[in-house]
Amino acid sequence: MKKERKLIIAGNWKMTKTVAEALHLVDDLKTELAEIEAVDIAVFPPFTALSEVAKAIHSSNIHLGAQNMSEHNIGAHTGEIAAQMLKELSVRYVILGHSERRQDQKESDELISKKAQAAHAASIQPIICVGETLAEREAKRMEKVLETQVRGSLNGLSKDQAVNTIIAYEPVWAIGTGKTATTAQVQEAHEFIRGLLVKLFDESVARRVRIQYGGSVNPSNARELTSLPDVDGALVGGASLEARSFTEIVKNSSKEKNREELRGFLKI
Ligand code: PGA
Repeated sequence: MKKERKLIIAGNWKMTKTVAEALHLVDDLKTELAEIEAVDIAVFPPFTALSEVAKAIHSSNIHLGAQNMSEHNIGAHTGEIAAQMLKELSVRYVILGHSERRQDQKESDELISKKAQAAHAASIQPIICVGETLAEREAKRMEKVLETQVRGSLNGLSKDQAVNTIIAYEPVWAIGTGKTATTAQVQEAHEFIRGLLVKLFDESVARRVRIQYGGSVNPSNARELTSLPDVDGALVGGASLEARSFTEIVKNSSKEKNREELRGFLKI
């Protein structure tokens, strides 16, 4: 399939960073990444820092994302945040169904699909996370698990909504462990997910959906991973918490640069 997708590098800060720390980090990122146009860049601070970070990155090339949201629009849901509340802060993306939430908050595919629909209704692009555990991979159940998650979490989306959905393939065993999946494992999983999108929607949708890889992405493996044919960016945890490593990941991830290099190598 022809590649026609812009890379997106996203920094998931998880439950770290006070407002002051968050502002410090985006200040550095703004300076370091000001020239980057070939890659979409997004940061995902905790809810408490969204408002201040939104102001700090206003009119820069760094976009804002949230780490979760409610499936409800308004009402008696103590502790929850609605899509419109995020939209008011210029949030462009929302991570849904991260494996930590699937595990800790027992989020189901059904719930994630409701959240995805609520996000689209507010014109926020969901990044839907899927991925198998080590036990599932070892039991050769990876494809089954991915199929169930992709089918269930994207259930009810129209073709237009699907095109504006990002999928993050994050093998659970590679998250925060320093154990990155091999390029062969990553490409295989991404190709499988894209094949599922053909089945669930159609070829043209599948060709346009961006699929990020996540799980111990760092400055040294970013280039190789993002050069794979079906990898359209990275969802970065640990290495997004410092300006230097996140900047290097973004800079190393330009596919244009990779192609140029490849041409150099191959003398074409
Ligand atoms: P990691 O986290 O980069 O620290 O492995 C990735 C994620 O959880 O999205």
